[in-house]
Amino acid sequence: MGNLNPIKVEIINRDTNGIRMEWIKIFTGEEEAKKRIVPDVPQRLIVHGKHICLVLHAGQFLAVQDACTHNSESLSKGRVNYVGEIICPWHNYRFDLKTGRACDSSSADLMTYPIKVNAEGFFIGI
Ligand code: FES
Repeated sequence: MGNLNPIKVEIINRDTNGIRMEWIKIFTGEEEAKKRIVPDVPQRLIVHGKHICLVLHAGQFLAVQDACTHNSESLSKGRVNYVGEIICPWHNYRFDLKTGRACDSSSADLMTYPIKVNAEGFFIGI
């Protein structure tokens, strides 16, 4: 079962990248992120009104849109399997967390969000 308490991002650190990417600081760094995010327990983030599902799987942070492409259920209420797929809690559709690809259905793929960590913090690109 995912973490149902969303993290709302209050502090915004903008670092515009190219045409449309905005890097939003959500943690002070990887250490804080690993304290806040339990491995394989999806965490919902609300970043600039976008609902995002953040997962720490096999030591890697991965972020996808929170709304399932089948019928919009919150994927952060779902679970993560051993191969790094998120499983929707409603009809059990599976999506690859790295690529967003729908694994066993004709549903659309999920949008993915890049993560970067540097000396200034832990950022998500939206
Ligand atoms: S809403 Fe996600 S599988 Fe149906």
